[in-house]
Amino acid sequence: MPVPAALSRLRLPVIAAPMFLVSGTDLVIAESRAGICGSLPSLNARPQDTFDTWLTEIETGLAGTSAPYAVNLVAHRSNDRLLGDLETCVRHKVPLLLTSLQSPGEVVAAAHTYGGLVFHDVISLRHAEKALEAGVDGLILVCAGAGGHGGALSPFALIQEVRRIYSGPLVLAGAITNGASILAAQAMGADLVYIGTRFIATTEATAAPAYKQMLVDTTARDIVYTNLFSGVHGNYLAPTIAAAGLDPAHLPTPEPGKTYVAGHKREKPQAWRDIWGAGQGVGGITSIDPVATVIDRLETEYHAAWARMNALHNTGSTKR
Ligand SMILES: Cc1cc2nc3c(=O)[nH]c(=O)nc-3n(C[C@H](O)[C@H](O)[C@H](O)COP(=O)(O)O)c2cc1C
Repeated sequence: MPVPAALSRLRLPVIAAPMFLVSGTDLVIAESRAGICGSLPSLNARPQDTFDTWLTEIETGLAGTSAPYAVNLVAHRSNDRLLGDLETCVRHKVPLLLTSLQSPGEVVAAAHTYGGLVFHDVISLRHAEKALEAGVDGLILVCAGAGGHGGALSPFALIQEVRRIYSGPLVLAGAITNGASILAAQAMGADLVYIGTRFIATTEATAAPAYKQMLVDTTARDIVYTNLFSGVHGNYLAPTIAAAGLDPAHLPTPEPGKTYVAGHKREKPQAWRDIWGAGQGVGGITSIDPVATVIDRLETEYHAAWARMNALHNTGSTKR
């Protein structure tokens, strides 16, 4: 199954990942105008009726281009906006819907009425099988080291298992912050990559300035994988956990059914608002830049990696 045309025409095979409280319309427009596929979670538009205005703003910002964009819908029973936001996406014919958590069946049915595509986040082969049964058009493999609710499997392990059952569009996510990693993902069997954390440290992201700077100042050793804050395992920045009065190296185990343990300095800190998410790729972020600069750099690195691989191939050498 080929990669859909709108995604195969991108300047780089990159979908900018949707990020809660980080991706707004400016970020999406800058990403898609620079030649990748921008995205945002519908839940970032608050109150709910501003979501429709946001989509109009994106359409206006991308007018005159054929650039695609995507919206993330969180398919979870706790999301009482799902059906309303889905209707808004159908009205605007959003080119690509990115679903996470539960089975995206009703999203697939709605998107297919207007030719929209649905790609679903998975962290295991079982999740991939269930998403395919629901009729999705592509899979996003969220592997170890991904920012936000990252998986635990190595991309080498998960790609080979999923490729055994599925030849359609595959997007690889997790710790990708440079152009060589994009080529590596393609070599492993992915069609596209999903990049989140790198786009937090951009001028267009709606993250706090201190959050952006923390990404410049930290490395993979500062990323903590825990289910303490949201009930689902995710990767978070250790300095924000410490600032909440907890020892990142010795986090308490939440009681079953609870996401947090009382008894620390402050009242319950909240994931995303107080405890900031980031993937293990932070070590590749050395400056806060406009989106266009980040994408120019990714492209240069991507072509440099191709040149290195071609040179290796031509000389038959396995050395760098
Ligand atoms: C701060 C933050 C917020 C995120 N919020 C969402 C979200 O609302 N919905 C979603 O599907 N994924 C969310 N993600 C996950 C990303 O879409 C993506 O899977 C991840 O960022 C890819 O890994 P990387 O950050 O290492 O590039 C979030 C990630 C981060 C870092």
